Formats: sequence, C-alpha cells, structure tokens
Amino acid sequence: MLITSLIEKKRDGFEHTREEIEFIIRGLLSGAVENYQMTAWMMAVCCRGMSEREIADLTNAMVHSGDTVDLSDLPGVKVDKHSTGGVGDTTTLIVAPLVAACGGTVAKMSGRGLGHTGGTLDKLESIPGVNIEQPLDRFMDIVRENGLAVIGQSGNLVPADKKLYALRDVTATIGSTPLIASSIMSKKLAAGADAIVLDVKVGSGAFMHTVEDAKKLASLMVRIGDHLGRRCEAIITDMNQPLGLAVGNALEVQEAVNVLSGLVPENEPLVEVSLLLGAHMLMLSDLASTEAEGKKKLLEALRSGKGLEKLRRMIEAMGGDPAYIDAERIKELCKVRRLVEVYPQKDGYLASLAAEKIGVASQMLGAGRARKEDVIDPAVGLIMHKRVGDRVSVQEPFCTLYVNDESHLEEAMALLQESMTITDEKPEPSPLVYAIVKE
Ligand code: URA
Ligand code: CA
Repeated sequence: MLITSLIEKKRDGFEHTREEIEFIIRGLLSGAVENYQMTAWMMAVCCRGMSEREIADLTNAMVHSGDTVDLSDLPGVKVDKHSTGGVGDTTTLIVAPLVAACGGTVAKMSGRGLGHTGGTLDKLESIPGVNIEQPLDRFMDIVRENGLAVIGQSGNLVPADKKLYALRDVTATIGSTPLIASSIMSKKLAAGADAIVLDVKVGSGAFMHTVEDAKKLASLMVRIGDHLGRRCEAIITDMNQPLGLAVGNALEVQEAVNVLSGLVPENEPLVEVSLLLGAHMLMLSDLASTEAEGKKKLLEALRSGKGLEKLRRMIEAMGGDPAYIDAERIKELCKVRRLVEVYPQKDGYLASLAAEKIGVASQMLGAGRARKEDVIDPAVGLIMHKRVGDRVSVQEPFCTLYVNDESHLEEAMALLQESMTITDEKPEPSPLVYAIVKE
C-alpha cells in the first residue's frame, strides 16, 4: 500500500477498506506516514467525510494504537460520562458521586482544560494534596471501595489521538465530525467502561454550532459505541451560556460542593443537566428503569448528603484533604487578592451570552492555559450573576471576577462586555436539553 494513493483515494471521495485505515494509523505511529501526509489525508476527510463503517474502523484502529484498560475485575456495569467540552460545566464532580451513591460504578479517566473549556483534572487539582495520576491497580481499588474514581488518562492511552489532535489543532482540521467522533470515542472505549453517556454541547461555546450537527455527531458516537460492544446514549444540551454560574477551577469545585450540599436550587441548569446525565447513567447500569426513577434516586442521594460524602471519600483516597469538601471550608480555596465587579453598559434584557468569550476571559485571569506548559491559578475565575433572559441594569454587576494577576484584567473585562447582547425586548427562552439520542 502507498500512503499517497490512499490520500488520493480519500481526496476523490472513495471509501477506505479496514486494512487501509489500519495502515494509515500504524504508519502514523511508526513514522512511515509523515505528518504532512497525515494532515493532507485529514483535510481530505474534512472535505469528503467518511462512512459510518470507516469511522468505526478508524476508532478501533485508534483504540488499539496503545494500552487499553480492563475494568472487568470490578463488579457490575462500569459507567462513564463524557462532555464534548463546555464552559462552567462541572457536571462530572456532581454526577459521578451521585451515581456512585445510588450503587453505580464510575471508573472515569478525565482530561485537562482545552482552550476556553475547563477540564475536570484541573478542577480536582485545586484541592490541596489531590494526585490525579494514580497507578491502575490503585485506581481499581478506589473504585472498588468507594464506587467512583476520576483520574488522569494513563500515559499510553490512544497515542494515535495525541498525534492526530496536535496536528488537527494547527491545520484547521479540528471541526470534522468523523475526526471528532473517533477522537472522543477511541479514548472512551480504551478507558474500558461498559456504558457511556455522552453530553454533546451545542451553541456558541461548543464545537457544534447547530442542533442538527450536534445530533449527527451524537448519533454517530452512539452507534460507534454500540458497534464496538458498549451501551451508549447521548444528550444534547445548550452551550449558549455557561452551564453553571462559576467558571474557574476551585470556583467550580465550590459550585459542585454547593450543589451536593443542597445549597443550589434543584431547577438550576447545572443541577438539571447533572440529574439527566445521572439518570441515563443509572438506566444504562440497570439501576433505574426510567428517567424519572433515576432522577428520584439521584435527588435522594443529593438531599441525604450521600453524594457529598462520596466526593469527600474520593478526594481523600486520591491524597486530597477531605476537609475542603465542605461548603464553608472550600471558600478558603477561592481566596484571591481582588474581587472585581463587571457592570453591563446599558439596561435591558440579557438576550445572549457568548460562552466561549466568558471561557476565554476566565482563561486570561489564569484559570486556563494559553500554552500547554502554562501554570493554572486554581483560585481565579469568575462568578456569573445573570443568565440569558434576566433583566440587567448598569447598577447591578453581571459577574464578579476573582483576580490575582491583573496583567490581562482589562482585556478580560472588555471580552466580558463583548460577551453580552442586551435588548429592550425580553428574549424567548431557549431549551436547555434539545434531544436524547439512543441510536
Ligand atoms: N474532544 C476530543 O477529545 N476530541 C475532539 O476531536 C474534540 C473534542
Ligand atoms: Ca467539563
């Protein structure tokens, strides 16, 4: 086989065989396929697309490019969740403990923040002592004892994705449905869960900008999962504004702790999406037969404090100080040099909020990385006071910034002004959940 012929084949819109796809991925890892050839092929994929069979073969080849995790020694259905990336989305830290408190087994490998989106690992590391790098046998022990563990991806999980992702990032080949689906699903499948609930975000702060595109991506990922022997479902949720009110690392852990302490109204979007994700995780684990039953069990775990206790035990098992998993004590982790209020420049209704801009503003304050080697300040970020549809006025701050390093403060504040669209008319409310995709 010749890589140049395969690039030509995809360029002209033909379908690859499984052997051809395996040849490409093997070549990427061995160096037989050069980076420029890989990116030419990926650009051809962006323009021509792939059949579902090709995407499943690509995903499978990626899964087997490195180590895979075998969770079969753990009892019951091992369930995972994945979000395609959002702002103010701390659902993992809420839903994983709640599902575990309901008898589920959550063995999850998470990622770091990417661009303007937050990552669970960075949030966990804002708690003193937490070590997100746990050896596999220790990870399994924590799950066995506690029902949940959320750790970093082990070093050699899907090395093909690490290479592809780095190339895509700098060659305008990120936004291709086959490449996104295989990237996400290869990592989920390699991490070993039996069941996976995907949260596909749609809107200004997400990879997918229309509901139709999000549904296509969701359905594709669900079918790839099914095809490779896992139970998969997806929910499509709104990312036209941050999901929760907190954006940052310790600030988002604080919000999760507040939710699990019963201090956040149960109809807040962050709680609603968490309950929906959790209900489907319980259903795929055979621990609930309907969404309503799943939500009821999760709410009991929330109200009784069992979910909070699960989070506390997990943090302790990972070397962290469990005393911080407390609504009072966690405030200490959000102490900064300066709080800065941001006021809207006119009165009216908040018609839209650009989630991506809010994510970038938080990143500028030091909550995220601009380059891989940047160090995150766990305490900084922002708390929103308004949501889309709310009345706003020049007298009332629309968010509060948590600031240590002021070097990009002005820029961040300008971006937050830009993130708001204010109108005289009250806008139509947009849905929080657009669809549930089961196949
Ligand atoms: N998240 C991933 O892991 N991969 C993508 O391609 C997009 C989002
Ligand atoms: Ca997230």
